[in-house]
Amino acid sequence: MTDYKNKVQKILSARISPPLCYLHSFGCQQNVSDGEKILGLLTELGYGITNDATSADMIIYNTCAVRENAELKIYGLIGNLKHLKENNPELIIGICGCMAQQEHVVEKIKKTYKQVDLVFGTFALNELPKLVYNVLTERKLMVDITEYNNEIPEGIPAVRNDKIKTGVPIMYGCNNFCSYCIVPYVRGRERSRKPGAILKEVKELVDAGYKEIMLLGQNVNSYGKTLENPITFSELLRMINNIEGDFKIRFMSPHPKDATKEFIDAIVECDKVCKHLHLPLQSGSNRILDEMNRRYTVEKYMEIIDYARSRIPDFSFSTDIIIGFPNETYEDFKCTLDVMRKVKYDNVFSFIYSKRTGTKAALIDDKTSAEDKGKWMRELLEVQREVSSEFFKRFEGRVLDVLFDSEGKNDNWYTGKSDEFIIVEAKSDEIIIGQRKKVKITKVFNWALQGEIIN
Ligand code: SAH
Ligand code: SF4
Ligand code: F3S
Repeated sequence: MTDYKNKVQKILSARISPPLCYLHSFGCQQNVSDGEKILGLLTELGYGITNDATSADMIIYNTCAVRENAELKIYGLIGNLKHLKENNPELIIGICGCMAQQEHVVEKIKKTYKQVDLVFGTFALNELPKLVYNVLTERKLMVDITEYNNEIPEGIPAVRNDKIKTGVPIMYGCNNFCSYCIVPYVRGRERSRKPGAILKEVKELVDAGYKEIMLLGQNVNSYGKTLENPITFSELLRMINNIEGDFKIRFMSPHPKDATKEFIDAIVECDKVCKHLHLPLQSGSNRILDEMNRRYTVEKYMEIIDYARSRIPDFSFSTDIIIGFPNETYEDFKCTLDVMRKVKYDNVFSFIYSKRTGTKAALIDDKTSAEDKGKWMRELLEVQREVSSEFFKRFEGRVLDVLFDSEGKNDNWYTGKSDEFIIVEAKSDEIIIGQRKKVKITKVFNWALQGEIIN
């Protein structure tokens, strides 16, 4: 691979100025993290980075396949690039990530979107120098969606988007095969990074001044099972918590079936780990959970919530919910609302079920109408507004730790996230982006809190 790296560097350094690459990542944090590595590799090859696609010499869309909408959006964007390519035939257009990992997508691109030069899947990061070399020298469509063996490539440089918070993948792939989900097909089998490599990366980031590290994986609390010397996610959390420095730890996403008492204990006992859990419920109906192959019941799910809140009453939860799984009834859906009311999530990410070719659920003849699903979605959003503001009220008058990361809508206002992962706004005469502050909460909105900085 070094060979190809040298070859590309030689070609690009012969240009008057470095060519520019524009990359956009769609989908989850894991995909964003892959995108940062792709930019790192391209920078090594001699590309500069631009935020303006129209002036770029290379445009890469790092795609998501989780719902049909995500894919339709990408097809639309690729279609729009046709004009840019006509004006600049030297432009290189690349499509990568989860959507690109699917055979039928590659076929469609070959047939309909002839402006595309490069298609590579989620396993091909290390092959990028070779692919870029081939595109530069042969100018014909290059495709690599091979499922390379399960070795996790280490040491790939990353150009990170953010200077305050960042993600560190701890595991890749998924073995769960929830019946609706495409991820196991496009990301391959579950594999974990060695703890040493993770600890080294977190330490470097903390030394570089990062204030929040998000551990990433499709099923983080299944971490470590495939290692030569297996360790648990809870053990990993405790090891990361022991790294010295001023930073907090979050992770995404854990799976309820792997959420043990020991896992909650580790969160509670590690001072750097935020007391917030994004715990995807998907459905509050045991019948639907079974059809989804989620491998837990509502009762088991509630045990985790109750145990966490028995240790820390303010423990906050967010979740993912799928509305309208094939043949879901209104009775099933109402069970989901019941769980929402019991847990009082501070945030719910709700999605209408989307049929994914190749998954088990795609074979079910769905009798539930799209109209009903839309109606239920509106009802769910209404319930969510009620329960989140009810949960938020408990924070009025209290002091929360907030990491500020952006400017607010008005002058001298800033927004950030509390440890509970709630948006908090506050006013400050000095710039506080990147700083953690104690904020006394004075106002409660449906979606956020407002307060005064006390130090
Ligand atoms: N591994 C994570 C989430 C992966 S995808 C987990 O298990 O929680 C993120 C979310 O997208 C899922 O939690 C689910 O709510 C939603 N999702 C996945 N496939 C979907 C589909 N076919 N239709 C609608 N939503 C889907
Ligand atoms: Fe998809 Fe289920 Fe794996 Fe999450 S756990 S990525 S929902 S198969
Ligand atoms: Fe989408 Fe792939 Fe993530 S399908 S949600 S980008 S793992």
